[in-house]
Parts: sequence; structure tokens; C-alpha cells
Amino acid sequence: MNERKISLAVVFLFPLLISSLAMKAKTVSNEDRVINLQTKDLSMIMTVGKDSTLYFHHFGRKIEDATPYLDKISYRRLDYGTDPHAYLAAGGRNYRNSALRVTHSDGDLNTELIYVQHEQQELSGGNVVMTTITMQDRKQPLKVELVVTAYREENVFTQKVNITNLQKKEVVLHNFYSSYLPVRAKKYYLNSFYGAWTQEMFMEESLLNHGVKSIENQMGVRTTHTENPSFVLSLDMPLNEHAGDVIGGALAWSGNYKINFQVDDFDILNITAGMNPYASEYFLDSGETFHTPEMIYTYSLNGAGGVSRNLHDWARRYQVYDADATRPTLLNSWEGAYFRFDEKTITDMIDDAADIGLEMFVLDDGWFGSKYPRNNDKQGLGDWQVIKDKLPRGIDYLANYAEEKGLQFGIWIEPEMVNPKSELAENHPDWVVKTEGRPIPTIRDQWLLDLTNPEVQDFVFGVFDDVMKQSDKISYIKWDANRHVESVGSAFLPADRQSHFWIKYTQGLYNVYERIRMKYPDVLIQACSSGGGRVEYGILKYHQEVWTSDNTDARSRIFIQYGTNMIYPALVIGSHVSVVPNHQSKNITPLKFRFDMAMSGRFGMELQPKNLSEEEKLFAKSAIENYKRIRDIVMQGDLYRIISPYEGKGLYALMYVSKDKKRAVVFDYCFEYQGRTHNSQSVKLFGLDPAKEYKVTELNVDKSNYWGNNKVVSGEYLINEGLNPKLEKMYESALFLLEEAN
Ligand code: GLA
Repeated sequence: MNERKISLAVVFLFPLLISSLAMKAKTVSNEDRVINLQTKDLSMIMTVGKDSTLYFHHFGRKIEDATPYLDKISYRRLDYGTDPHAYLAAGGRNYRNSALRVTHSDGDLNTELIYVQHEQQELSGGNVVMTTITMQDRKQPLKVELVVTAYREENVFTQKVNITNLQKKEVVLHNFYSSYLPVRAKKYYLNSFYGAWTQEMFMEESLLNHGVKSIENQMGVRTTHTENPSFVLSLDMPLNEHAGDVIGGALAWSGNYKINFQVDDFDILNITAGMNPYASEYFLDSGETFHTPEMIYTYSLNGAGGVSRNLHDWARRYQVYDADATRPTLLNSWEGAYFRFDEKTITDMIDDAADIGLEMFVLDDGWFGSKYPRNNDKQGLGDWQVIKDKLPRGIDYLANYAEEKGLQFGIWIEPEMVNPKSELAENHPDWVVKTEGRPIPTIRDQWLLDLTNPEVQDFVFGVFDDVMKQSDKISYIKWDANRHVESVGSAFLPADRQSHFWIKYTQGLYNVYERIRMKYPDVLIQACSSGGGRVEYGILKYHQEVWTSDNTDARSRIFIQYGTNMIYPALVIGSHVSVVPNHQSKNITPLKFRFDMAMSGRFGMELQPKNLSEEEKLFAKSAIENYKRIRDIVMQGDLYRIISPYEGKGLYALMYVSKDKKRAVVFDYCFEYQGRTHNSQSVKLFGLDPAKEYKVTELNVDKSNYWGNNKVVSGEYLINEGLNPKLEKMYESALFLLEEAN
């Protein structure tokens, strides 16, 4: 991002004094006491009070003139210390959950932040304005910078803090949340995500009552199976897709997270969001700065749909790695071959993938190990040499073979982990996460490597680097991580710094990614973590996509992808067609239903293609061709959800509309028998231009039964009356392409 400083704002307290603790306020003009951060449609408003506290007033609809907030009487009791701060610290008068809690070097437990100055920088050609508000404790030399970045077009704000210890000795940070957001409404309907392995991102709504509800994870790695560091909060009424004021939030952090929702005694909702303080006291040395990850917020004036579209736009432009690059369609070997393959199995799969028009082949687990060949998941992890018995001509041969067939080539690694039965574990027992004298539990027969240790970071980088060196034809890496932290302990960290493990692990991982991206800026890297264990915006800064779930059943995917897509754009959602009965659920769905589902994300296949009949292959070939026609709309278009699978009718419909509204694609699924009620289905469309005429084409069918197929229909009609395909039987589905008619 190109940057330009647009204003150096007021210093109305004299500049931060490191040694002097006496703070004297200078007078400051009213104009300078109001901080009104704006995007296209939103404002976030703070003021500097007469007591120098930075107060928070408003996040929502745009307000041009925020000066009345200066004299506003607090909606809470000021004399109770319950007034809304912009970044709340523990101590002084506060008794609510705080974003920051510090024990100062002299044992003082209080922190009272007061405003020092703020400055703004314009970035990204003016679309982004970063405001850095410097605060310091009223007594102790501790500096806190609250950094709020406004993304104008996308209507997104991000918040983070930098905490600097200016004391002579270390201080202890207990809470170090990225942001504190007070919200005021009559009622708060929290929509959050829950699940487990193969059941990620299911959604549930709860009416927040007084007290605290938290979304959190304490597993260190693989943090997003059970919950997700994101939410959709509807104000005053239950979440609606198209109407109402709704706040969306997501944290960009791949380690432990915690988002707290505290409805207080004044009915204000206080949201604190950031890294989880769980067992993570951080000893901040004199002169050291602690950086928190970014918390991302948007505010929609038109329901959940607005939240998703804002987040998707922001993510594609500013967060997801290389979001503009076209994602290739692919065949992944896992469910088709598992560990049982040789060179011929793979070259046959490549042949078949090429025949049906796929663009990449990805060799999954099972290709490495020497003393302990990885022929099952019990051994060999950590030993990244090609198994010669299986693949005598190595990876380069396969990658070249793929290239000759017109395919790109990708390969699986899991560099943060090790099987106890491996040469790596034998040679480097001190690299394993463990506490001496305690058992080291295994998960999937593997241990975790200690990424707080720079030597381990070098090793993990080396795994990536060495694998890439196996062939210059590798253009995709599937980076897996199949266990979480247990029996926490690091042989590298000193005894009095063990609590740094959780944060340093993730920082170590990011160090490795930084090195990888310096050297390999173009390689497509998928983040997989037993399926959807790493679905969050921190990982997506380095990865182009995630493996959404190990559950490839198209019916399960309705809910998994609906939830994922609420926060994350379709271009990061790896979505594959697999066989039936499905290997996870045993469910049986028609091939068309499976294709129609997978085509609503980043499309791939994960099966043994030679087991497809000729008829199925023909269908696959034409569906893949269709996907290439609609891919850019799915990847880069605006998402509109038409029917939610949670409505309980056994129906799900969504659409993507290209930014210029000239093209759209509509997906419609039936997953419960409708009987006679199918006539009541209404698939009214959104996001189209009412003044345009659209040619409607049904895809993935031999012969369309839909009356509108090949007809030209007005946008006005499609918006008001809709496409109402007759989906009646279990697992019927329909897919329509709409193109502006000339
Ligand atoms: C994890 C991944 C799968 C597959 C296997 C390989 O479970 O989620 O997609 O790569 O590992 O062992």
C-alpha cells in the first residue's frame, strides 16, 4: 500500500514523558478532541474527555458532525466509572471486563489510559486511513497505541494495539486484547460458529443476557474446529439476511483466541476481542513492544448479507494472499488413494484429471519417509524424503508428467509435526512440545514441534524449501496440521517464560511464513488442519485458501459452507466432489448435487476417477467446463443468500453477482423431500440490475425442465418474481447462469 501522512494531530498533553510521571494537561481545541473515523457509510466516533480519557461513543451509521458528542452526558454513570472507554484497562475506577490488564514493575495493579496524541496516514490511494492514537498510563511509564484502520469502500474498520513498556524493569501483561468495543442496543442476538472435526462452522444464535459469553479456543494449533474467532451480531432483532443493523467481527490470529461479550448493568454490550489470555502471562521487558493481532469489524445496515459482502470485499482486497489469482480446479489424491499408491496410480490419476478438464493434480499424504516409510499415519512424519519403492522416479517425474498433460502439480506437507516413529523424533527429541517428566500424549500418532525454537523454525522452513526444490514444477502446497497442543512445554523457553509458549508458537509460525513468502511469492498454499482447523484471517494473510472440512459429503457441506461463507469469501473455500457413499457420513447424493455444491466454492475433486463410469466422466467434464465459465463470478462476485438451510425447509439457495451486475450465478438445493409444497418455493433474486435483461441458462443438465431456460428475462422480474425451479425430491439441485442479453 502506498502511503501518505495526512495529518499530524494534536499533542495536547505534553509528549510522552518516560521518566516524569507528572502529567499536566494543555488546553486543546474542541475540534481536536473529536475523533470521527469514517468509511463510505459508517462512523466510529471517540472523544477526548476533560479528564483526558479517550471515550468511545459510536460505531454505526455515518455521522458527519460529531461535535455534539463532546458535551454528551454519558448514558452510564460517570461517577461509577462505567463510562465507555475506547480501550478499557483494568484498574482505576473500572470494574468491567477490560481489554488490558497489567502488573507494573513496582507491583501497581492499576492502569488508567489517557490520551496523548493521534496521527493519521492515508494508504492504498486514499481508500485506507490508519489512525494511531497514543495513550499512556496516568502514572506509570506505559505506552499504548490504539491503531484503528478504516477501509472506506469496504466499510470495514480494524483495530489493534501496540503496548510498550517504558519502565526500568519488566511488567506483566495479563490481558492484551486487540480491541474493546462498547455497543448499545435494546437486544443483542449473537450468531457464532460451533462444531467439531468434520462439522465445522455450524451456526447458532443466542440472545445475550446479562453476564459474559465467550467464544474461545485454548488448543494452540487447530483452533477453529470447535468455534471460530468471528461472529455476526444482530442488534434489536434476530438475525435477518436482508434487513437490520448487524455487526460482523473476525480476528486475524492463528493461535488461542477469546472474544468476550459482556452485557453490563447498564445494558451495554462490551466486546473484548483478541489473543486468549489463558495461561499466557506475558513478561514484557523494559523497552519492549507487544503487538496484538488485528480485530476486524464491519457494520451492515442491511442484515447479515451486508456483513458478508463487506468482509469478503475487504478480505479479497486487503487480507487473503494473492486474492486476484485464478484458483485452478484440481484433483486431490487423498480420498481416491489414501496411502495406497505407486507411480502408476498417480500417473493414471493425472491422465484422468486431464481427460475431464481439471487444471491441477495434488499428491496428498503418503509419499515420504525412509527408515519408516509413511504407508500409514503411524510413522514417517518428519522425514521428508521420497519413498523410492512407491515413486522410483521421484516428485520431479510426476510434476513433469502432469505438466505434459497440461496440469499444474501440488503436494502435501505437514511440517510442524512428527511421528514418534520417525528419524526426526529420534534425532531431535528436544524439538518436541512436552514437559520433562510428563507423558507426551499423541494425537493421530503424532507430536507437535516446538516452533518457539528458532532452530525448529529453520527446520520447518527447510521442509518447505526442500520440497519445492524437488521440482521446479510444483505450484501448490497443501500445508496440513493434524494435532493441537497438549502437555504444553518448551525445552527452548526458559522456566520463567513458559507462559509465552502459546503466543510465541504462532509468532514462530508467522516467521516461517514470512520467509516462505519472501522466497516463494507465487506458490499457492492451502491451509489445512484436519480439515477446517485453521479457518481464520491470520492464516489467510499467507495462504490463498483453506481446506474447509474433511467432510466432503455434499449435504453436510450445505451447513459447513453456509457458515464459512458468512465470514470468508468463496475463493478461499476448498470444496471437492467425492464418491458415494461418502467416506465420512456414508450419505448418498447424486453426482449432479455433489457438483452443484462443490461449484459454489473453489472447485476440486477428491476421488479415484477411474472408478467413474463413462457417463459420469462425461458429466464431470461438462460440469468442469461450466465451472470455468462461472468461476470468476463465484470467486470475485457479491454473495447473496436467498434461502438459509437453517430455515428448516430442507432448501438452500445462494447466488453470486459480478461487480458490474452483468453476470450472476444461482445455486439452488433441495435436501428434504418437499412433497406438494414445492410449489411454494420462491427463489427471488438479489443484486441484479432491474433495468437489465438477463439470458438465463441452466447448467449441469442435459435437458432443462425449467421454463426460463434460454429465455431472456428482465432484472426487474427476477428480483420481484424470481426463478422458481421445481425442486421436490431429495437432493435435487439447479444451477443457473445469468448473462446480460445484448
Ligand atoms: C488430514 C487432512 C486430509 C488429508 C490427511 C492426510 O486429515 O485434513 O485432507 O490431507 O490429513 O493424512
